[in-house]
This record gives sequence, structure tokens and C-alpha cells, in this order.
Amino acid sequence: MSPSRPSRPRVVVVGTGRLGGALALALAAKRWHVRVLARSEEGRRRALELGLKPATDADVAQARVCLLCVPDKSVSPVAEELKPRLARGAALVHCAGALSLEALGPPRGRVLGSFHPLVAVSDPRDSLAGNSVAISTRSRWLRDALERMAKDVGLRALRVPEKKRAAYHAGAVLSAGGVVAALSAAVEAFRAAGISEEDALAALLPLTRSALRGVEARGLSAGYTGPIARGDSGVVAAHLAALPPESVAVYQPLSRRGLELVGHRLPPEARAALEALLD
Ligand SMILES: NC(=O)c1ccc[n+]([C@@H]2O[C@H](COP(=O)([O-])OP(=O)(O)OC[C@H]3O[C@@H](n4cnc5c(N)ncnc54)[C@H](OP(=O)(O)O)[C@@H]3O)[C@@H](O)[C@H]2O)c1
Repeated sequence: MSPSRPSRPRVVVVGTGRLGGALALALAAKRWHVRVLARSEEGRRRALELGLKPATDADVAQARVCLLCVPDKSVSPVAEELKPRLARGAALVHCAGALSLEALGPPRGRVLGSFHPLVAVSDPRDSLAGNSVAISTRSRWLRDALERMAKDVGLRALRVPEKKRAAYHAGAVLSAGGVVAALSAAVEAFRAAGISEEDALAALLPLTRSALRGVEARGLSAGYTGPIARGDSGVVAAHLAALPPESVAVYQPLSRRGLELVGHRLPPEARAALEALLD
């Protein structure tokens, strides 16, 4: 990397909300030169309370990387608004998992990128460490800088080919919101057994965590447990009979998916019985 492209370039974070605040705090803690740009009085007050330094016009003009931490729908207009204020060589980077680099507008010689942390940040003081971040850019120096940024704030960098972004983002959504949606079907099944949502969540969340620990320790197939993994079609038939129809609509495709994970280990007749039930 040339001296004009330092490994820890000057950063301006636009937006002092959940992610913008968390990223700016994490970078500042690692001694990055980071300034924040807030659009409102409320945003500026929040930044000061967090101990973040506001960006002057000179900071914006001197930034090498401009991180847009604004709502997805504002990425394009905010990028257009900022372009004339940034140096020609400065990179524009958004943090939205669902958006391609096109959201930043035509490159016209400008370096573009995306830095999408795979973490649910509900407060700027949340730590990002221990999670992953998807990085997309066609620029080698920006990729190096974003990977350095990731490493410094404790994020594991994952390179995502730009053309496959929608599939990547669908996977991310399934692993977060999809798991919560599956859990809501589990709570509904407990309700059918006369158990309140509060009691259901108190019992089910530790169970979900133990299942995730199993996957962490042994991978998807060996970490998958339950009647499908045991080849027990009698239990699955009883479940299907006991559940309300809206729960069956969730239980069936998830069970078919489970059978794909473990079917190769089951006796052929047990597998066939399960396939027939879940068809
Ligand atoms: N939070 C997460 O878990 C998470 C995780 C991964 C990626 N992301 C991505 O990060 C981005 C920001 O999400 P967030 O959750 O941090 O949102 P947020 O908490 O709602 O914060 C958005 C920030 O953008 C500012 N803003 C809104 N419209 C603006 C505009 N037109 N011009 C300038 N600033 C504007 C807001 O200013 P005010 O303070 O004045 O309202 C606020 O500071 C999104 O692209 C999101 O997809 C978020």
C-alpha cells in the first residue's frame, strides 16, 4: 500500500445511529482517525454523549473512507450529496446487506465498497467483536483497508462477490429473522399445549442455544437432533396430528430440510417413512 493509502485511512462515519455509533466507537477505541457526520441536532447530541468527534468540512474533504451508516433508502441520496464534498480519491462505502454497490451511484472514477457487519446492533454501545462482516469492493486498496478495519474492531472478514449479494443477504436474513420466525412457530406449538408465551420463551431459548452450540461444536449434520435425526416417524406423525395447521406449515418444510441433513445416516425404511409423512 502506498504512503498516500495508509493502512488505517482517515474515516468519516455518516450517521450516528446504532451501527454508525458502534463502528465509530470501535474504530476510535483502536486509535483510528474517525469523525462522525450527523444530520440532526439529536444525532450530534448523541455523538457527543458517546464521546465521538464531529466531522468538520475539512475532515470530510480529507477522509479516505466515508462510511454511510444511514437507512438503506437514504444511501443513494446521501452518497450523491456527499460526493462533491469528498476528495476525488476517497472511497464511499455503505453498510447495507441488501444493497449492491450500484446504490452508491455511477463510480465515475470513485472507489466504492460495502461493509456489512453480520450482527444485530441495537445500541451504539453494542460490541461488534466476535462477529463477521461481508466486504465487497473491486478496489484492492479499499479491500485491504476494510479488512484492516474489520480486524481492528474484532470482525471476521468475509468476501462477497458483488453479483451474488442477494443470495448472501437471503442467507443472513434466514439465519437471524428466519430463526426468530421458526421460534415463533415453536411458541405457537407450546400455546397449543396450554403454555404461555413467557413460559415458552423461558424454556425454548436455552434449548435453541443448546442446539446452536451443537452446530458450533459438530457442524450442521452432526449437530441436528430430534425425532428426524433418530428416524422416528411415529413421533413425527404425532406432532403433525397435534399441531394447528399454521404450525404444520412451518414444521413440515423445516423437517424436510432436517431429513436432507441426516437422511443418509438413517435406515432406508425409516427414511422412506419420514419422506412419505413430510411429502
Ligand atoms: N443496526 C444493525 O444491526 C445493522 C447491522 C448491519 C448493517 N446495518 C446497516 O447500517 C445502516 C444503518 O442502520 P442503523 O441500524 O444504524 O440505523 P439507525 O440506527 O436508524 O441510524 C441511522 C442514522 O442515519 C441518520 N440518517 C437518516 N437519514 C439520513 C439522511 N438522509 N442523511 C444523513 N443521515 C441520515 C440518522 O440520523 P438521526 O440520528 O438524525 O436520525 C441516524 O443517525 C443501514 O444501511 C443498515 O442496513 C445495520
